[in-house]
Amino acid sequence: MAAQAPGPDQAVPDPLVGRRILVAISGSIAAVKLPLVVSALVQRGAQVRCVLTPSAAQLVSAPALASLSRAPVALDGDQWSHRESRPLHIELAEWAELVLLAPLSATSLARWVHGLGDSLLASVLLATEAPVVAAAAMNTAMWQSPGVARNWQALQAFERVVPLGPSAGLLACDRQGAGRMAEPAALLLALESLALWGWRRDWAGQHLLVTAGPTREWLDPARCLTNPSTGRMGVLLAQAARLRGATVDLIHGPLAVDPAWLEGLRCHPISTGAELQQRLRDLQPHATALAMAAAVADHRPARPQAGKLEKSALAEAMAAGWQEVPDLLQHLVAHRPAGQRILGFAAQSGDGLEQARLKFARKGCDLLFANPIDLPGAGFGASTNQGWLLGPGDRCQTIAPASKLAIAHQLLTALLALGPTV
Ligand code: CTP
Repeated sequence: MAAQAPGPDQAVPDPLVGRRILVAISGSIAAVKLPLVVSALVQRGAQVRCVLTPSAAQLVSAPALASLSRAPVALDGDQWSHRESRPLHIELAEWAELVLLAPLSATSLARWVHGLGDSLLASVLLATEAPVVAAAAMNTAMWQSPGVARNWQALQAFERVVPLGPSAGLLACDRQGAGRMAEPAALLLALESLALWGWRRDWAGQHLLVTAGPTREWLDPARCLTNPSTGRMGVLLAQAARLRGATVDLIHGPLAVDPAWLEGLRCHPISTGAELQQRLRDLQPHATALAMAAAVADHRPARPQAGKLEKSALAEAMAAGWQEVPDLLQHLVAHRPAGQRILGFAAQSGDGLEQARLKFARKGCDLLFANPIDLPGAGFGASTNQGWLLGPGDRCQTIAPASKLAIAHQLLTALLALGPTV
């Protein structure tokens, strides 16, 4: 495809704008977090309606949800009315483009998996053909009980469902353990991913290793050479792959993203290029694909100091020289296990495309996503990005301005389409 220069910063629409989202809330104490999620969805331009089970209605205020969603809330008593020509569960099921089922209690899970429609929420779940993000939450012992475990396992095989298992932490019953519902930011991310990509788990069976964020090279314990990377692009790539069914390891430098975006990933924090190199050495052999989104600091001080330097000694210490950090991506390409595909990234300014082509040839990876860092709405910390995707046989695809999550999905599709190396 012919390469065109990416356009100037364009307003990129939020993928949730105008989407009809049904928020289905069942009886777990995590229900108290849902008003914030509903409010966030409305602020992002989604149309929202809420349906509550009787237990959820005891935990969270239906009038508050009605006010936040700007729509009446559906309760069990509303299911059949002589004033309505259509049953409410069918009306809601067909209205929804996307469903957020959160929290998903043990009882609602059992009803759904066993095909019971003995409440409004349960009937909506059976009747809807929309994809569902389902976020379980309950006490640890309940979560680990054989019946719940079996039902959760059965749900994994449902089409159109993105199951979000609970994380471990302090529960409202004062127990430390598995059972906490995915945080609101993780629910919003899963919905955004569903709106962009759908529920298909085409990465199932794959093991993706992602690096993200900056590295730091320390001159002394108080000063380092680094860069403004926040890790957003790499973390969203990792999450998009997880939501598409991959097992994901994320090696990351210091991040500036919502910690909820790390849920469900196997995280390996590092600071320096040497630590990144060591972790890559450990994890590369197990991965079917690798995405090197980390912004590696290119030089390290030749003589790092163990103690903090006096201000007056700084100039001399910096003049003592710098060593180049080895090119990790080149090394990864040269030592990859059979079949492994590798995606590199390139931060470019000025005439980015020509430099990116040279970099692609030098690094030898299968795909290289080059993005400008000197345009508004692209590069470090921005919520959107754009650029060029370079691939085999001089392929160069212009990546139009889009949210970083949307670009993450495009990159995953391109990587998977290559198939394993032969
Ligand atoms: N990279 C790497 N090891 C380094 C430097 C970069 O593995 N020592 C990887 C990055 O993770 C990225 C790609 O190489 O996937 C390109 O990084 P970039 O910073 O754009 O390029 P550099 O190789 O550092 O070249 P330059 O700074 O001259 O543009």
